[in-house]
Amino acid sequence: MELEQVTHVDNVRLSDDGRAVRILDQSLLPNETVYLELSTPEALYEAIASLRVRGAPAIGIFAAYALYVLALQSEAPHYAPFLAECQRHRDYLNASRPTAVNLRHALDRMVAVAAAMPCMDVPSIQAAMKEAALAIHREDIAMCRAISEYGLSLVKAGDGILTHCNAGPLATSRYGTGLGPLFLAKERGIILHAWCDETRPLLQGARLTTYELQRAGVDCTLICDNMASLVMKEGKINACFVGCDRVARNGDTANKIGTSGVAILAKHYGIPFYVLGPSSTIDFSCPDGDHIPIEQRSGAEIKETFFAAPSALPEVKCYNPAFDVTDHSLITAIVTEKGICYPPFDESFARLFGPCWKEATP
Ligand code: MRU
Repeated sequence: MELEQVTHVDNVRLSDDGRAVRILDQSLLPNETVYLELSTPEALYEAIASLRVRGAPAIGIFAAYALYVLALQSEAPHYAPFLAECQRHRDYLNASRPTAVNLRHALDRMVAVAAAMPCMDVPSIQAAMKEAALAIHREDIAMCRAISEYGLSLVKAGDGILTHCNAGPLATSRYGTGLGPLFLAKERGIILHAWCDETRPLLQGARLTTYELQRAGVDCTLICDNMASLVMKEGKINACFVGCDRVARNGDTANKIGTSGVAILAKHYGIPFYVLGPSSTIDFSCPDGDHIPIEQRSGAEIKETFFAAPSALPEVKCYNPAFDVTDHSLITAIVTEKGICYPPFDESFARLFGPCWKEATP
């Protein structure tokens, strides 16, 4: 399988007729390759909520196309009712998943495009929204590439990299963030070894990360989440690369459940722990991790989803937070498209993202 078939495909895009959003259904991977074309509010919402499309940047790109596709169906005669409809669709889609801030960023940006055109007719606003959605996608491609370059500069040939969840092309666009340095290294003939946490309960590491790395010819080994400590102790890991769903102003980082445990282990073994993510994942209005909403999901994901028969009695209670927050004190650096931020993160963010930082300062 060619590397480019992994790193140069659009897993989220507009359909050929431009009236639906086309996605590769991630919930069925790696066993089935099914593409969906979605165009109703309910189907678009369901695709995000049930993780057919997932990963913070990919959710943002999808939401932008979704709002455009819905705007295209509008029968509103002019600006005011058209804008009200866009705002309704934004609020509906925004409720599909609470933690990844890219969803809100993309939806707000799309509505802002419409809101800024009060004197224009509906078709002109729709055209501007299409351009905005395509721009969000293009920008993510460029950001992922830049993040991958910066990430690759942090490791050397022969290194072992621990990954958690999936922060590859499926979760973003093209190279990915957390996995980007591994694909770029492969492209340049640099050998890196990936150790991939399976990532209970929805197995994004097993189902998606090893699927992407294996197909691209990157050396990868799958481990259960509870093996990370051992492989670190055995000296197999030189760095941890993870993605992010929301980064607060002080560097506290929400990512897939289990990430904070990996960071604690890395600190214990003296291994650098890197968070890789685009600026669209930094929430400059969020002071710290205590203010990040954590999504709670069904206990069926723990007991049933990936088992031939239920793994526990039906009456057993489950607690299924989908994300946790890694304290900024455990993070060696946050790798963005503009550069590598080292602690103290509030100061390095302010240096790199001056205007956004100032606008959001309370
Ligand atoms: O619940 P998911 O699969 O959407 O969670 C995804 C993650 O936690 C990813 O690590 C994160 O979105 C970064 S993707 C580049």
